[in-house]
Amino acid sequence: MADFPKIITSRYGLPQSHTLKVAEQHGAYSAARMAFTTMKPEQIAVEVKDANIRGRGGAGFPAGVKWGFLPKDSKVAPYLVINADEGEPGTFKDRTLMELDPHRLVEGCLIAMRAVGAHVCYIYVRCELVTSIQRLEAAIEEASERGYVGKQPFGVDHATQIYVHMGAGAYICGEETALLNSLEGMRGEPRLKPPFPAVKGAFGAPTVVNNVETIASVPDIIRMGGKAWSDQSRLPRDGGTRLYGVSGHVKTPGVYEAPVGLTLRELIYDLGGGMLHADRPLKAVIPGGSSTPVLRPGDLVNAPDPAHPLHAWHGKSHIDVPMGVDTFRALGTMLGTCCAIVMDDSVNMVEAARNLMHFYSHESCGQCTPCREGTGWLHDVLENLCEGKGKLQDIDLLVDIANNMMGNTICAFADGTAMPMLGFLQKFRDEFVVVAKSGVPPHSLGATVRALGGVS
Ligand SMILES: Cc1cc2nc3c(=O)[nH]c(=O)nc-3n(C[C@H](O)[C@H](O)[C@H](O)COP(=O)(O)O)c2cc1C
Ligand code: SF4
Repeated sequence: MADFPKIITSRYGLPQSHTLKVAEQHGAYSAARMAFTTMKPEQIAVEVKDANIRGRGGAGFPAGVKWGFLPKDSKVAPYLVINADEGEPGTFKDRTLMELDPHRLVEGCLIAMRAVGAHVCYIYVRCELVTSIQRLEAAIEEASERGYVGKQPFGVDHATQIYVHMGAGAYICGEETALLNSLEGMRGEPRLKPPFPAVKGAFGAPTVVNNVETIASVPDIIRMGGKAWSDQSRLPRDGGTRLYGVSGHVKTPGVYEAPVGLTLRELIYDLGGGMLHADRPLKAVIPGGSSTPVLRPGDLVNAPDPAHPLHAWHGKSHIDVPMGVDTFRALGTMLGTCCAIVMDDSVNMVEAARNLMHFYSHESCGQCTPCREGTGWLHDVLENLCEGKGKLQDIDLLVDIANNMMGNTICAFADGTAMPMLGFLQKFRDEFVVVAKSGVPPHSLGATVRALGGVS
């Protein structure tokens, strides 16, 4: 296996790594001490900007730029809110940080609060993550006893409080404004934007919402310096190392740290140990949580124009393109949470789509008609196909429904449902046609569908 530097995972694998004693023996809180005692808040923000860290929650927005959106003339202090909902199917990276190294997140929260002028931080964790919650609460208590969290962290007059808030476990509460509503005790429904949370967030105050991994990266950014941290990446404007998840039909599913710009081939065949069954080739991979359009290994990059952002990979397989926020957007998909779901040729794509749409139809909050109705319709049509009761026209109907959901709703949930649906239909239309025409449930069509070819 490739030997990548361990930065955010440097304490993974140490016995009792979640305790203050062990974490501190291995460097915890040295960056926070430095940030509080030797740096001005603006300097911290500059390092985070120089680090080119793209948000690790899915949208990939640069964290340094987001912090800069907080109004300078606000009369109330901003809040820091950490998004630890981690509900995206196939995504299980943030929980490893909270379980194995909660002090790294607490330290990141302290530094971020110092940088943006916040005194209160809420970590919103879904209730199913029991160990994460227990270890975070224990870590906050230990750090409070040591005085790192409290009235004068490291002897500096910048009071800090950190609270763990339990969410009830709804996927939509990972969307930042639904999360804020839920935090305030209201229904977990997304808010119309603008105003964005930076201007009017938690309890009406300016608020920074960041993902767990984004904030847990901050101590290393300060310790190493933003530029040095950024340079760990293989790509420009997308810095550092990050957590990669891999699940599905691989030999060693799990969470691995590697430079930004790793390829899916490296993730699957090196870190992931290769395909689970030697006689079952890779058919498809959903790159970053289920809301990102699927990729096929047999598809080649078509970018003959030297000005195209993917020109350097012209003619190469999609799984050989470096995984970055901008590169994957240019490829027609998204990096999302950077947690790949790997499927071999035993998977029927109509059933895979049905499975995903079942999830989305259950999780829509229901505020917007195109999303509430569209997700239900997508699921119903796929359910019919999977029961062998479908028609050929159903394929166009699925396209139509998905297109009507895109760009017509309050939050990105609907797009995050429609895009993968359209991806399945575009890349695996032949399988949908076979299922629709045959009139028999797809699980009994496995061999026929595999024999279609074109699915690599
Ligand atoms: C439906 C939906 C679910 C989301 N779930 C999560 C989540 O579980 N965790 C997360 O960090 N971001 C999630 N996001 C993204 C957040 O809205 C937000 O962009 C993110 O927390 C910002 O943090 P970052 O800039 O550090 O990535 C979700 C977005 C949508 C639309
Ligand atoms: S897009 Fe869907 S999840 Fe988002 S607010 Fe509208 S109904 Fe709710």
